[in-house]
Amino acid sequence: MTNKPCKTNYLFYQSRKNMPFIDYAEGVYMYDTEGKEYLDGCSSAINCNIGHGCTRILQAIAEQSRHTFFAYRTQFENEPAHRLASKLAEISAFGLNRSFFVSSGSEAVEAAIKLVRQYFYNKGERSRYQLISRVPSYHGSTLGALSLTSSAQLEVPYRPMLMTHPKIPAPYCYRCPFNQKKYPACGLKCAWILERVIQEQDPERICAFIFEPVGGASTGAIVAPDEYFEVIQSICKKYGVLIILDEVMTGFGRTGAMFAYEHWNIDADILVMSKGMSSGYYPMGGILVKEAIVEEMLDKGTFAHGHTLAGNPMGCAVTLEVLNVILEEGLVQNTLKMGQILKTGLMKLKKHYDIIGDVRGKGLLMAIELVMDRKTKEPFPPELNVNQILADHAFAGGLIIYPRRPINGLSGDHVMIAPPLTINHREVDKLLALLDKALAQTTIQLGPLSYSGQ
Ligand SMILES: Cc1ncc(COP(=O)(O)O)c(C=O)c1O
Repeated sequence: MTNKPCKTNYLFYQSRKNMPFIDYAEGVYMYDTEGKEYLDGCSSAINCNIGHGCTRILQAIAEQSRHTFFAYRTQFENEPAHRLASKLAEISAFGLNRSFFVSSGSEAVEAAIKLVRQYFYNKGERSRYQLISRVPSYHGSTLGALSLTSSAQLEVPYRPMLMTHPKIPAPYCYRCPFNQKKYPACGLKCAWILERVIQEQDPERICAFIFEPVGGASTGAIVAPDEYFEVIQSICKKYGVLIILDEVMTGFGRTGAMFAYEHWNIDADILVMSKGMSSGYYPMGGILVKEAIVEEMLDKGTFAHGHTLAGNPMGCAVTLEVLNVILEEGLVQNTLKMGQILKTGLMKLKKHYDIIGDVRGKGLLMAIELVMDRKTKEPFPPELNVNQILADHAFAGGLIIYPRRPINGLSGDHVMIAPPLTINHREVDKLLALLDKALAQTTIQLGPLSYSGQ
């Protein structure tokens, strides 16, 4: 099959940057129209969990297309949506057994925001409308989700249009927001501050706390100490504040568990999902909600929310098959195994390259943070764009990684390394070798800047 690029560019996204045209993709590899091969070291946008070109999904699409692509949820029930919801109920815990489907992560966060408000509204607790989130964090690009996000680079132009919700610092231990000693000597200030903020804001006004169980791109895969989750849960319980877990990036096997909450037994009220859920084969997102919350909300009213494509049969059929692939092909177990090999390899690279300040993450959601001075953790000047230099060298060498800034989107440099969960040992070794080469090129390009402090 040929896939010729068109000459005139009528498209625009964030910038005028030109990229190669994609031709096809298979497993962990992607190929451009010039025939160049790229190892997808970040599952594209950390969403292609089951890898590219999965024939089982093509069959599921063909099978569903023999019935219908679309039926509107206010006119017809559809079998794939029911089967998907019941499968999700089967694999989740803590009574998270009611699904509401949408088409993206941002839409799913919007649904969660509106659901917690609707729940308290229907219950008669109408003073509760505020949510608490973390700094930094990423919850999406629509205005509601962006209001909960904290990444200055993304928010600044839109600030006058955003809702003001209180925020607390994220557990970014490498750069403790409170300049405390290492855990446990820090006393987990970053968790206990939640109680202070709830009290300051008035507990009667807060409806939910939303957070990513393992940090995503905004922090570079931060992992909180185990006790963090116990403290957060006890505070939320004490004040009747609901927990919304944003598992858009961490869900569907990414961290070595089907959902990241399993690592810490986090008893969430709402789980937000997308990305790996359909692994890029169809736009899908959704929320999994505790039965008791849905029942009480619907007993006393409605949920005034929805989108045209929500819960459409094709999206649900694709997602159901993605879930079957994850379960039947042992991708969660593979993530645990390959994640360990990847982490060991990244630690080895850290020994070799002074610019790697930190290696962190869980499963196949890993990041390396780059610093100018390993002892003081001083970041590179932001205008150098060191994360992009590394990502560009990697890309030129045939490896895709995901560059971001961990200090509220404004400074610091990290790259996310999060390949498809189908990756094998040989491919992890290849990823590490390509990254090694890109780190060497970056170090040479930075010259003396990459050796200070050593
Ligand atoms: C944790 C988290 N929540 C929400 C979103 C928004 O998802 P989408 O880009 O599908 O709107 C993202 C996207 O990166 C994310 O990582």
